[in-house]
Amino acid sequence: MSKIVLSIGGSLLNPGKPDLPYIRQTCSLLEKLKKLHTIAIVTGGGSSARTYANAIRSLSNNEFIADEAGISSTKQNSYLLIACLKDSAYPKVPDTFEDAAHALLTGKIVVMGGTIPGITTDADASLLAEKINADRVINLSNVDAIYDSDPRKNKNAKKFPRLSFSELVELATSNDQRKAGTHFIFDLLGCKIIARSKIETHFVNGKNLTDVENAINGKKHNGTIVCD
Ligand code: UTP
Repeated sequence: MSKIVLSIGGSLLNPGKPDLPYIRQTCSLLEKLKKLHTIAIVTGGGSSARTYANAIRSLSNNEFIADEAGISSTKQNSYLLIACLKDSAYPKVPDTFEDAAHALLTGKIVVMGGTIPGITTDADASLLAEKINADRVINLSNVDAIYDSDPRKNKNAKKFPRLSFSELVELATSNDQRKAGTHFIFDLLGCKIIARSKIETHFVNGKNLTDVENAINGKKHNGTIVCD
């Protein structure tokens, strides 16, 4: 049995309101794969995190409070999966990595959100993977792979089927220095954690459930694999 950490972008689960058909399809795949793997999931905050962060910035200009509200949004999205997975899921969202590791011993799928202000769920997924010695991390987003530039803006953007850990950190670092509004697929802290522990990481389009299944099973897919 492999240990898998799945990081699901909030915009997949809740692009404005919860995407119930997508949540149901994803959960039925996860119920099938639970027989083969130990699965831990980290859910992102999506549009509700951004709405609250913007409102809080207008009211108090306090980034710490904005982050705390963002963490609540990530946890609300966790409960969407817990509700849909029913008995296959651990019933509570763990607040810490230790609690998540403990909950995984029940054999259930564990779903968590954010942990502390100042980071994002990309870093949470990487830290959870370190904590539980995961075999691989699978990052589900709206983008089907890592490219050398934004494929929505540049039709000649080159897809990377494979990257080394140092190449991933290099790409995340150069994107981190770009002007505001650009956003690398995985945050720099998360990339550095994956690289320091050499955790194989797969980037796939979360809407392509064939690719999601192949990535979870460690098979070839149309996304990017980061490994040594
Ligand atoms: P996300 O991880 O969804 O951030 O957490 P994001 O950068 O908006 O992700 P994408 O763009 O959907 O991929 C939502 C917000 O919750 C707070 C941060 O403010 C983050 O932007 N957060 C999340 C924390 O402060 N700590 C955490 O551990 C997780």
